[in-house]
Amino acid sequence: MRKPIIAGNWKMYKNLGEAIELVRQLKENLADVVSVEIVVSPPFTALAAVAAELSGTNISVAGQNMYWEEAGAFTGEVSPLMLKDAGCTHVIIGHSERRQFFGETDTTVNKKLKAALKAGLTPIVCVGETLEEREFGGTMKVVEKQIREGLEGLAPQEMEKIVIAYEPVWAIGTGKTATPQQAEEVHEAIGTIIAQTAGGVARNIRILYGGSVKPDNIDVLMSQPNIDGALVGGASLQAESFIRIVRFKNSK
Ligand code: PGA
Repeated sequence: MRKPIIAGNWKMYKNLGEAIELVRQLKENLADVVSVEIVVSPPFTALAAVAAELSGTNISVAGQNMYWEEAGAFTGEVSPLMLKDAGCTHVIIGHSERRQFFGETDTTVNKKLKAALKAGLTPIVCVGETLEEREFGGTMKVVEKQIREGLEGLAPQEMEKIVIAYEPVWAIGTGKTATPQQAEEVHEAIGTIIAQTAGGVARNIRILYGGSVKPDNIDVLMSQPNIDGALVGGASLQAESFIRIVRFKNSK
């Protein structure tokens, strides 16, 4: 049985004071949760303070991005070792906003993935199609390419350590969630693709859904057989909604 993950992606929101306030509420209200892995991903400026506040709790901290080198003259970048030093255990890689606005490609995703694994960080790798790609029937082609090229060269035991997030770009921040059936269909197909390369360990790889996940749709999403958790943007910015999402009701 794969342990579900609920991860909050705060994007470019929350100053230091707001970040601490939010995680104080989360740690007070989620301390009893043992069956779900909980992750929050604050902006870089709040990582160390949030990780210190969450130290010894059941909530882990993720970076939202990183560079693949360990150190060097790369102005504006943050290395995997720096994320670890700040208290991160996870890192989001290849989010569609990075692909769309900051030139992230499957090649850079692959380099970052390998660097994250080398540093002992758990990568949450994002894939997903745009509306245009879905309308032209290319969803699986796009997702398959992102997975094959993004994960290229990884040994099965490395693949086992990664988390995949399927986030249809048209569902992110738009209020349009994929229907549970649409999500399940892609999750199942992703499972098949990773089984072809990772073999038996593929069944241990968790696949999260992301894109307008809210308290009112999390239960039905989590009831799908191949949805192992959620990457939550907007609804992770308020304690109440994130807490409800972590406490989803699973009827699998
Ligand atoms: P959303 O964002 O929940 O606000 O749609 C999800 C994401 O971008 O990870």
